[in-house]
Amino acid sequence: MAINVKTPRDSFGSRLGVIAAAAGSAIGLGNIWRFPYVAGENGGGAFLMVYIGFIILIGVPVMISEFVIGRSAQRNPVGAFNSLAPKTLWPLTGFLGIIAAFSILAFYTTVSGWTLEYLYLAITDSFKTKTAENLAMSFESFRTSGLRPLIWQNIFMFLTAFIVYRGIRNGIEKYSKILMPLLLLIIIILGIRSITLPGAGEGLLFLFKPDFSKITGAVVLEALGQSFFSLSIGMGTLITYGSYIGKNVKLGNTALSVSAADTLIAILAGVAIFPAVFAFGIAPESGTGLVFIALPLIFEQMTGGYFFALIFFLLLSIAALTSTISVLEVVTAYLSEELSLGRKKATLLAASSIAVLGVACTMSQGPWSGISVGDKNLFDLLEMISANIILPLGGLLIVIFVGWHLSKEKVFAEISNQGNLKAGFRYLYLFIVKFLAPVAIAFVFMHGLGLFRFFGSGD
Ligand code: PHE
Repeated sequence: MAINVKTPRDSFGSRLGVIAAAAGSAIGLGNIWRFPYVAGENGGGAFLMVYIGFIILIGVPVMISEFVIGRSAQRNPVGAFNSLAPKTLWPLTGFLGIIAAFSILAFYTTVSGWTLEYLYLAITDSFKTKTAENLAMSFESFRTSGLRPLIWQNIFMFLTAFIVYRGIRNGIEKYSKILMPLLLLIIIILGIRSITLPGAGEGLLFLFKPDFSKITGAVVLEALGQSFFSLSIGMGTLITYGSYIGKNVKLGNTALSVSAADTLIAILAGVAIFPAVFAFGIAPESGTGLVFIALPLIFEQMTGGYFFALIFFLLLSIAALTSTISVLEVVTAYLSEELSLGRKKATLLAASSIAVLGVACTMSQGPWSGISVGDKNLFDLLEMISANIILPLGGLLIVIFVGWHLSKEKVFAEISNQGNLKAGFRYLYLFIVKFLAPVAIAFVFMHGLGLFRFFGSGD
């Protein structure tokens, strides 16, 4: 057990606890709701290849970098940059993370609310005998209805605030350790049912057979954004969690295990969803409703479907919760440490101000959908800006900070636990954070935003 006795700060109890908490943050709606729908809209197999490439080459190093910053500074993201780089502009990177926390939680709690509605539908056995059209229609009318999604969203926000208020140790670790593996098991069972549906093969081809002509600058930026979003990196969530990690936890191994688990769950979610999508004739580019239409159809076709639907939506809600608490924790830690608010006040202030933006997000799905920029309502805008712009920008700044601002000695000391580990990967890691990751992120960025062209335009 690696209990961090030196500091009075709240900390994770064990190595497994750290992995569980970080995996709890990473694994969530990003894997099961967002990955399939974004992959569906961006061509399937080719998107998956680029996505996995980014996870390995950029995601894992950025995650290690966040742990390095957090554990060495022992502070929230703004405070961490302040203490490692006093009197510079670096703390702005921390503030960027606070902005990301606001925009991510606003739309994420909307979708978490949808998950609670579907848990309720599962309990009341409401999927029975529904066709794909029925399910698509009822999803649409629910999503745009205003009041009902608002109620669920606020219940979800309340649950998040309640756990964050109780503190890291008791709150986060305990649940994640048992429930995440259970979620994995259910997704595997769903996947098996899905690939044995008649016509399922086409779905597997869509997910795994890359069609490289589909790769455009926009697709590559979506893959980068999705990899950051799914790993919870680029906004200081893992700086914050890193600050609670004990001094003898292996940062490299932790980042690898968390990223592997996260990627596995996303791919398995794809294996559960795409075969069903093709088997039932749903368009893979159906957007944010994709899983809420495809999964109930699988449950309908399963022995014990009622039971599986119930457990699945329960676990999905919990997976979403272990992610939202990690985002709220960033703002709470900032307010309580930098503005010396008590934890209770900090949590309340953070949750209630984010809830205001959250309400606007849910309303933008229906009653306020008229307020839009181009074809994007507030929900779409916040989702696009946070995943595709703020997180990659944050990640870029984080690797530049670790690669160029912190001394090599300090970084090596942190990843080798003060010389107690060999950390054979340290030179490769340093090369990536100094050169490869910054150049790659900057390149994808400029390209995705249309500043120059390397791949085709896709039109
Ligand atoms: N990674 C989480 C998910 O996949 C979402 C998240 C993004 C959490 C950014 C924290 C920070 O659901």
